[in-house]
Amino acid sequence: MGRRRVGVLLGGMSSEREISLKTGEAAAAALERLGHEVVRIYVDADVDQVLRQAHIDVAFLALHGKYGEDGCMQGLLEILGIPYTGSGVLASALAMDKLKSKEVFRLHNIATPPYFSLGAEDVDRIRAIHGSFGFPAVVKPRREGSSVGVSIVRDPEGLVDAVHEALRFDDDVLVERFIKGREVCVGLLDGRVLGAIEVAPQREFYDYQAKYTPGMTDYHFPARLAPTRYRCVLTLAEKADRALGCCGPSRVDLLVTEGDNEYVLEVNSLPGMTPTSLLPKIAAGAGYTYDRLVEAILAGARLHAGGSRACSDPPAHVQTAVESPSGGKRALAS
Ligand SMILES: Nc1ncnc2c1ncn2[C@@H]1O[C@H](COP(=O)(O)OP(=O)(O)O)[C@@H](O)[C@H]1O
Ligand SMILES: [Mg+2]
Repeated sequence: MGRRRVGVLLGGMSSEREISLKTGEAAAAALERLGHEVVRIYVDADVDQVLRQAHIDVAFLALHGKYGEDGCMQGLLEILGIPYTGSGVLASALAMDKLKSKEVFRLHNIATPPYFSLGAEDVDRIRAIHGSFGFPAVVKPRREGSSVGVSIVRDPEGLVDAVHEALRFDDDVLVERFIKGREVCVGLLDGRVLGAIEVAPQREFYDYQAKYTPGMTDYHFPARLAPTRYRCVLTLAEKADRALGCCGPSRVDLLVTEGDNEYVLEVNSLPGMTPTSLLPKIAAGAGYTYDRLVEAILAGARLHAGGSRACSDPPAHVQTAVESPSGGKRALAS
C-alpha cells in the first residue's frame, strides 16, 4: 500500500478517553514507522469541522466507548465520505450495546449468560424485579467498556448499590448470572480468528485496575484449554462477531466453565491497541508484529453505508452547497 494521509482519531468524550489516547499514540507511531503521513485528530464536539479541514485520505479509529465505538463517529465519517477502519455503523452500535448484542446472540443460538435489564424508572423495585434470579450476579451499564460501572453482587443490598452505581454511566443496566470460569478473549481481523488469550486477574474479576495496572493480571497465550475446547471457543467467537456484522479488528470476551459451557460476554468492535493490549498480544501469536497489525487494519478501511456502491468520494448531496438559514450559500464539504 502506498503512502497515505491518515487521520488517527483519538481521545474523545467517553469514560475510556485515557485508554484511547494510549491506543491512538501507539497506532500513530506505528503508522509513521510504516511511512504514512499522520494527522492526530483529538476528538471533541467540533470533530466534524476538524475532519472537513484535515483533508485526510482515511481515518484510523483509536476511540473507545461513547461516540467513538458506538456508531456515532462511523456515521459522521460515512456522511463526510472518509473511509475508516473497523466496523460500520450498525455493527458498532450493536456491539456497544450489551442488551441488543445479547438479543442478537440469542437469535443465533450463541450462549450468553442469562440476564435481565433495569432502567432508571425501576430503582424503587430492584429487589422485586430481581425476584428469584439468584446470586452472585453481575451488574453492568448497558453501554460502557473497560469494566467501568461493573460490579459482582452477592446479596440484595449489594444489588441495589450496584444498580445505582451502574446507572451513573447509563440509563439502563444489565443484571447477569455470575459465571464461574476462565476468562478468554479471542482476537479477530476481518472475521478471521487470530487466536485466544486467557486472562487471569489477581483481583475478584477483570476490573479497570486489573486491566490497566501492570502485574495485576496474568496472561496465557494460547489460552490453557484442551485443543477441542480451544477450537470451540474460536468458533463461538467467530459466530458472535459475524452475528453482529463486525469487520476489521475485534475482540470477543468469553467465559469458559469447568464443565462444558462457553458463554459470550461481549464483542468489542474497537479493541484496545496499546502495544500491551490483548489484541496485539493475540495477533503476535498469529505472526503479526504490532506494525503489521496496524497496516492490516488500515488496509481494511472503507465506507460501509453505500454497500458495494460506497466509494471514497463524498456523496453528491454532501458536496452540494446548501442554503444556510441566513440565506447565504454554505459548502458542506470542501
Ligand atoms: N456474567 C459474568 N460472570 C462473571 N464475570 C463477569 C460476567 N460479566 C462480566 N464479568 C467480569 O466483568 C468484566 C467486564 O465485563 P464485560 O461484560 O466484558 O464489560 P466491559 O465492556 O466493561 O469489558 C469481565 O471481563 C469479567 O471479568
Ligand atoms: Mg469486556
